[in-house]
Amino acid sequence: MKKICVIKGDGIGPEIIDEALKVLKVVRNDLEFNECLMGGIAIDTVGECLPQATLDCALSSDAVLFGAIGGEKWDNLAREKRPESALLKLRSSLGVFANLRPAKVYNDLLSLSSLKDEIVKDVDLLVVRELTGGIYFSQPRYKNENEACNTMKYTKEEIYRIAKIAFECALKRRKKLCMVDKANVLETSALWRELCSELSKEYPSVELSFMYVDNAAMQLIKNPRQFDVILTENLFGDILSDEASMVVGSIGLLASASIGGKVGLYEPIHGSAPDIAGKFIANPIATILSAALMLRYSLNDEDNALKIENAVARVIKDGYGCADMSFVKHKLNTKEMGDLIAKLCVQ
Ligand code: IPM
Ligand code: MG
Repeated sequence: MKKICVIKGDGIGPEIIDEALKVLKVVRNDLEFNECLMGGIAIDTVGECLPQATLDCALSSDAVLFGAIGGEKWDNLAREKRPESALLKLRSSLGVFANLRPAKVYNDLLSLSSLKDEIVKDVDLLVVRELTGGIYFSQPRYKNENEACNTMKYTKEEIYRIAKIAFECALKRRKKLCMVDKANVLETSALWRELCSELSKEYPSVELSFMYVDNAAMQLIKNPRQFDVILTENLFGDILSDEASMVVGSIGLLASASIGGKVGLYEPIHGSAPDIAGKFIANPIATILSAALMLRYSLNDEDNALKIENAVARVIKDGYGCADMSFVKHKLNTKEMGDLIAKLCVQ
């Protein structure tokens, strides 16, 4: 049996995770799911956002599947007590420094994107986001009555290991790597550039380019097809991956894999969407695709990962979608979408 630590979290988290579990159960019968508390629900139940039991379970599992956390109810807590802090601590404790966020446009549903069809057609890019360093984690950080401070710090090792993953990803794809930074202003970016240039000597077949983040934000909507792999630091990656989701058409479709540490963490890139929680209208596809990534990267099960991804592509091709997908022919609720994908996985 493979042990999967399941963290449903808050808002739509439980609804979407249930559908991912449904799909996983039809493709594999050797998974043991252990549910753990994290986020707002953990604060309400046991008084802390990341209970030790959750951390222990995550660290002793083969993979962690995570839904979403956070909500207005907990927004006024001190920063380190908020649900978001639990997620950051989990990422950091697992050591998952590499966050892979694929954004692939479904050519059967180009109208989903707010951009023109001819701009988004064939877009297939991967954001490789550094996840456990930079301004999210560096010291000093503080806030007092008069001032507040955050720091963006990166060591050579932190840059080197994420860059290596990005080069490896590019090697398996179209062999284009674009490093996104702010080297015209930031010292950290200058170091990133130096190390990437050095590392590129080991990957002569990968074409390395550099782009400033403001330009990248523009290029992503001007001509997203120019990108294959985008490598970037934590905060820029957070922002650009949300932007990339709009190229695809809905944030409800984008999955992510966080790897490089002891145990992989798999989560949709969207949040807990408290406004629609409990209505069963949330799109479970991003979470189902995250489960596919879990099979691929943590369980080495490419066959079933592909089976799930193909089922999702088929559903979209056949005109099915959820509330977030405005132009689809057949609107499904959360459970119906999970059922349909699960059914296609066994056909
Ligand atoms: C994401 C989210 C998180 C992040 C938040 C919830 C802390 O926006 O996974 O992109 O900023 O990393
Ligand atoms: Mg984000």
